[in-house]
Amino acid sequence: MENTDPEDLLYARVAGHYRRAIQAGVLAPGARMPSLRTLTRTHRVSLSTAVQACRSLEDEGLLEARARSGYYVLRPRHALLQPVREPDPQQALPDPSSFSGIHDRVSDFVAKCERFPVHTNLALAFGAPEAYPQEALKNAALRALRRHPEVLVSPVPPQGDPGFRSVLARRALAAGMQTTADEILVTHGCTEAINLALRAVAQPGDVIAVESPTYFGLLQVIESLGLQTLEIPTSPSRGLSVEALELAFRTHERIRAVVVVPNFQNPLGSVMPDAEKARLVALCETHGITLVEDDIYGALGDDDLPLKSCKAWDRGGNVIYCGSLHKTLAPGMRVGWMISGRWHARVRMLKHAQSRPNDALAQIAIGEFMDSHAFDRHLVRLRRQLKAQRESMAAAIASHFPQGTRLNMPRGGMLLWVEMPEGRSSRAVFEAALAEGIRVAPGLMFSNSARFDHFLRISCAFPFSSRTESALRRLAQIVAAG
Ligand SMILES: Cc1ncc(COP(=O)(O)O)c(C=O)c1O
Repeated sequence: MENTDPEDLLYARVAGHYRRAIQAGVLAPGARMPSLRTLTRTHRVSLSTAVQACRSLEDEGLLEARARSGYYVLRPRHALLQPVREPDPQQALPDPSSFSGIHDRVSDFVAKCERFPVHTNLALAFGAPEAYPQEALKNAALRALRRHPEVLVSPVPPQGDPGFRSVLARRALAAGMQTTADEILVTHGCTEAINLALRAVAQPGDVIAVESPTYFGLLQVIESLGLQTLEIPTSPSRGLSVEALELAFRTHERIRAVVVVPNFQNPLGSVMPDAEKARLVALCETHGITLVEDDIYGALGDDDLPLKSCKAWDRGGNVIYCGSLHKTLAPGMRVGWMISGRWHARVRMLKHAQSRPNDALAQIAIGEFMDSHAFDRHLVRLRRQLKAQRESMAAAIASHFPQGTRLNMPRGGMLLWVEMPEGRSSRAVFEAALAEGIRVAPGLMFSNSARFDHFLRISCAFPFSSRTESALRRLAQIVAAG
């Protein structure tokens, strides 16, 4: 039965206990599982329940049975999948004037999603509500209201709450940035920050270089501002090809900005090595082209070490840094910020003209929470959870998807970019899956071209359950049927 919570069953509870230990690395690949006899004693279960628990972990690809020796932890099954193919940095770049736009594809996706009820949503790029500190944020908001009862009826400083901006400046140190509260502007999420950045540096008709594939929301912003996109080959493991970008700078006029997601790129999950980030910053500075950095996933690495932002190498103020709490802390609060370097005054003016300051209550509450160790503890928990979900999801894809499927395993974030065997269409798979209540993001949405039509972006943002497993099994059948 698909809807039964697996942990209601005795064998599943035992299996869950060891699954978590394997996923956390407590039982490493090659380690021997406790014997069946030990399992019966430890968990007070019958021999057949112990056997069933081990067999279910074997079915998931976590254990293997060795004759007369017992069960052993396997290498993760996703390690058996081939990585997604690397692009050729010398490949011919699409002509920006042939730019067809993304709005129709996104509207089509949204309209179709609205038509079908969904039981398993694998298209979301933010965590489940339980993944965030709801109670602590509620209490912080109540405290903020008690301490500052005037907050709802008083104007907000134009750049945002000063206390919140001070916390952001302190927290930015971890990503290698040197900034002050005065240089930070609070925005309505990363989306507004990117809008303002591009409006500050480009005019309609100008060209913006972006990673390929890239987040469809960015393609929408570029299109809605009357700008054109130049898609630059991007490695699934090392991010934007600086070599290809250099070539583009030499061959294309009117490039006014580069937008990059250096850490856990959406959809690839790639991370640019530090040396490439430094090279990118220097290249843009040399050519007088603004670098807009979207670091929305930077704090979500498995290693608990915040990754460096490109801005860390910015000496001349040519990098516009955009951040947000949409993924890491509070998807419902729409709080982002930007550090605009030499464009600060112009960006401030544009923000004032466009939307005026963000409301203060959310900023005060979040600022208080982020100033405490509770925020660090929350991030550690969230990263562990996302890692476990990614591992389970990748193992299930490796078990069920047809031969020829490729996948890179990111070391952070909440997204998997899955290359289907040749000839599959993400649009067809998306539509067939949606009709059965399973939602994924088709590769077609991540480029203005059809180059990624045989990819799917599969989200690991929500807890992995038996329902997720059966949805993936069904999705795999749809992919296999072609
Ligand atoms: C790379 C990237 N940038 C920006 C956003 C949107 O950010 P916000 O919700 O803060 O506007 C997303 C959301 O999916 C994203 O993946």
